[in-house]
Amino acid sequence: METVVSGIRSTGNLHLGNYFGAMGNFLKMQQEFNCFFFIADYHSLTTHPTPANLKNSVKQVLAEYLACGIDPEACTIYVQSDLPETAELYLLLNMNAYVGELERCTSFKDKIRQQPDNINAGLLTYPTLMAADILIHKAVKVPVGKDQEQHLEMARTFGNRFNRLYQTETFPEPYAFNFGNNLVKVPGLDGSGKMGKSEGEGNAVFLADPPEVIRKKVMRAVSDSGPTQPNQPKPEPITNLFTLMGLVSEPATLAHFNEAYDSCTIRYGDMKKQLAEDIIKFTAPLYDRIQTIVTDDVLLRKVMDSGKEKAKASAAKTIKEVREVIGFLR
Ligand code: TYM
Repeated sequence: METVVSGIRSTGNLHLGNYFGAMGNFLKMQQEFNCFFFIADYHSLTTHPTPANLKNSVKQVLAEYLACGIDPEACTIYVQSDLPETAELYLLLNMNAYVGELERCTSFKDKIRQQPDNINAGLLTYPTLMAADILIHKAVKVPVGKDQEQHLEMARTFGNRFNRLYQTETFPEPYAFNFGNNLVKVPGLDGSGKMGKSEGEGNAVFLADPPEVIRKKVMRAVSDSGPTQPNQPKPEPITNLFTLMGLVSEPATLAHFNEAYDSCTIRYGDMKKQLAEDIIKFTAPLYDRIQTIVTDDVLLRKVMDSGKEKAKASAAKTIKEVREVIGFLR
């Protein structure tokens, strides 16, 4: 059975981008493949969370995995830092990762713009750690959003380079995966770019947002004064609202607002009201489950412990093979 690995950073609550970009695929994949889903807490250290923040966000993301329906019986859910084998593989892969290629990575360029006072080596080597996450289980399928495509290409580069250098076939090639469809980019509410945790206040709708917060955020989403001629192409902020509607609303609702746009009768206030209610319909059951699960420390501990054990069995095998291939004496 093919192996799947994917993760989400523990830097805050999950938003609709995480859900439609990655989590929705986790849910479909867990029945069909050998799946490892983890919470990327090592990765989150690039932004220097406090210990209290880190603990809370790992618990929160784990509760959100479970609330969405990730089943610890069907797959392996674990916390990245419970698997130091990943850190060892990261170190080893870094020996064959070149500074030039890491500096050219789009996510690195974005990050140094976002946090100019904290351009740490962890940011530069983020793709090597991500490659280690994937290669440690010899995964071939990686459910992610569109923003991760370049990281997957780098994971293939690092795995192939290792194989070539040591003349082995240790690592298979991992590919981003979305059930035969294109990878998804969920837009944010700020009129440009993607929904993201670090894109500024009000840009992301979180699964754990209460209904009144969702209403407020969506009503404040960037739009414009409306089309002045029929059948015009939509500007980016408006396309974004339609894309979000396409994810959560009935096709008839989407068609109704498309027609209203084309005939210049659209009222964005009405459209946003409808969009907010459809998002709430989607998130409400998740919201309730998240509130219950996040306080259940016994359950969370149990899931983390059993995930750690299963993930370790897989990782230990790979790291043993890698050490032998490299030529360590023991
Ligand atoms: P993170 O936390 O930034 O994102 C987690 C997942 O959510 C997807 N995603 C989106 N998809 C579509 N539209 C959006 N607006 C959007 N925002 C986020 C991301 O593509 C990702 O799939 N580096 C990874 C975490 C990671 C990982 C791994 C993933 C670490 N190691 C190994 C796969 C395999 C990340 O971006 O986290």
